[in-house]
Amino acid sequence: MSQAHRFDVLILGSGAAGLSLALRLPASLSIALVSKRDLSEGSTLYAQGGISAVLDANDSLASHIEDTLDAGADLCDPERVKLVVDHGPASIRWLFDQGVEFTRDDKAVEAGGYHLTREGGHTHRRVVHAADATGKEVETTLESQVRARANIQILERHIAVDLISGRKLDIKVDRCLGAYVLDDASGEVKTLLARFVVVATGGASKVYLYTSNPDVSTGDGIAMAWRAGCRVGNMEFMQFHPTCLYHPQARTFLITEALRGEGGRLLLPNGKRFMHRFDERAELAPRDIVARAIDHEMKRLGAECLYLDISHRPADFIIEHFPTIHARCLELGIDITRQPIPVVPAAHYTCGGVVTDEMARADLPGLYAIGEVAYTGLHGANRMASNSLLECLVFAAQAAADIEAHLGDAPLPPDVPCWDASRVHEPDEAVVVSHNWEELRRFMWDYVGIVRTNKRLQRAQRRIDLLHHEIIEYYGNFPVSNDLLELRNLVEVAYLIIRSALRRRESRGLHYTLDFPFKDPAQRQPTVLIPDNYRPRAD
Ligand code: FAD
Ligand code: SIN
Repeated sequence: MSQAHRFDVLILGSGAAGLSLALRLPASLSIALVSKRDLSEGSTLYAQGGISAVLDANDSLASHIEDTLDAGADLCDPERVKLVVDHGPASIRWLFDQGVEFTRDDKAVEAGGYHLTREGGHTHRRVVHAADATGKEVETTLESQVRARANIQILERHIAVDLISGRKLDIKVDRCLGAYVLDDASGEVKTLLARFVVVATGGASKVYLYTSNPDVSTGDGIAMAWRAGCRVGNMEFMQFHPTCLYHPQARTFLITEALRGEGGRLLLPNGKRFMHRFDERAELAPRDIVARAIDHEMKRLGAECLYLDISHRPADFIIEHFPTIHARCLELGIDITRQPIPVVPAAHYTCGGVVTDEMARADLPGLYAIGEVAYTGLHGANRMASNSLLECLVFAAQAAADIEAHLGDAPLPPDVPCWDASRVHEPDEAVVVSHNWEELRRFMWDYVGIVRTNKRLQRAQRRIDLLHHEIIEYYGNFPVSNDLLELRNLVEVAYLIIRSALRRRESRGLHYTLDFPFKDPAQRQPTVLIPDNYRPRAD
């Protein structure tokens, strides 16, 4: 049996949240940074539109707060919104200091020479960006900083299996002590122990058949924290991005909302605009409204897709602002300077997640959750565009501050049993994993998608109960593998989404059900699920 490895801080996940935290922590701390695939792979790498923050002298913090609250359909936590918005400008300055370069506009004097774009729900131009590949600029710049730090040990292609806690092992220390982590290359499950553990594992949109997200977004952190006794909140609010490219060779390619911010129009197959029939803000209404309108029109017309057209803008403007989208579409035979782009909605963002406080602390002492994995109260029932990367940056800084403040009182983890693989034998039915993976994602799309009903949700619940049973049994008998771990986590997350959706008997933000089509002021509170092994924190 292998030895445990010990660190001051263990960070699971290396997107905007995990990387920023690693860089914000004192260089005197030993840090393990664990990443399921290559370090840069994750949603952050693919972020297009940008990061929202008040950078223009004509804009105001109050306006950013108001827009966020409005997009969140009265379900945001106003104090958390204020915290994040107030820290916006400083977070962007921190990125500048790390070497991140954003698109400039010499004429934008009021915005400090940066080009600010607009997206749905924002009443001002306040989205700073690096053309249409903001995430790549942020992720790769932070990655190079992290790789230069001697105190950060990087473990790529290592998959966290479960959190280790005193509670689970039945030892006296009621704290998160580390994680069991599978080394994908060797198949060994390592024991990583730390004084502080942070989940920064991103969202869970892979639970749906069609998604803008990369393969790593399987909700691992949410499932691990739930199993470890942490509450999860607002899981019914899964966000569907209105405009993903509809093309057989590019199932997950996003067409940024900034394209609509710069004048892009949504069109029916007959070339007519329709969004004004659904909301006076038309193409720039918040995302839940636009996605639902597209879904409605596609179903009404029996259309496979609708269209997004920016070809009325000058070709050089389009190519300068949207070089990635222009190039990718051209590869697929679509010239966006001359033709409309076929689009469909796809699962994009997990608004709910692990319940955290203002310092990013989860329910289990010693455990933090930052980035898309967390439920912070910022997004309410619907996330406003480009508020997510900002949330990653702000709560990474909060967690770093809290860890630094508690270095003196965090105990060294005691010895714990290493992973025991002696009971399991080689799999004889790997098909169970691939079959269930496909079935799960399909029924989530069909029954727990943009438009829900009680009957569909109950149907989904019956299926998830069966799958849960089957996967738990399989998990106990066979060696862990990436696919099995992801399926186990997706099943857990799907169960949490369905349970939360059944509990909300109204339509609000991203949760729309034909059985209760209106917002009910009496249900203006988050949906918080509590696991059996939950204990309120003493501190
Ligand atoms: P991620 O960047 O997803 O990183 C998760 C990390 O966790 C990865 O390193 C992954 O390998 C690792 N991981 C996962 N599970 C495990 C495990 N079990 N063990 C070890 N490691 C694990 N938001 C904006 O604000 N502006 C935008 O313009 C924008 N555009 C977007 C465009 C696209 C196509 C997508 C998909 C999202 C976009 N978003 C945008 C949302 C935003 O990108 C994400 O919410 C944000 O990047 C999440 O960052 P994160 O650090 O929490 O997670
Ligand atoms: C986009 O560029 O449309 C995505 C923005 C976001 O998800 O915040």
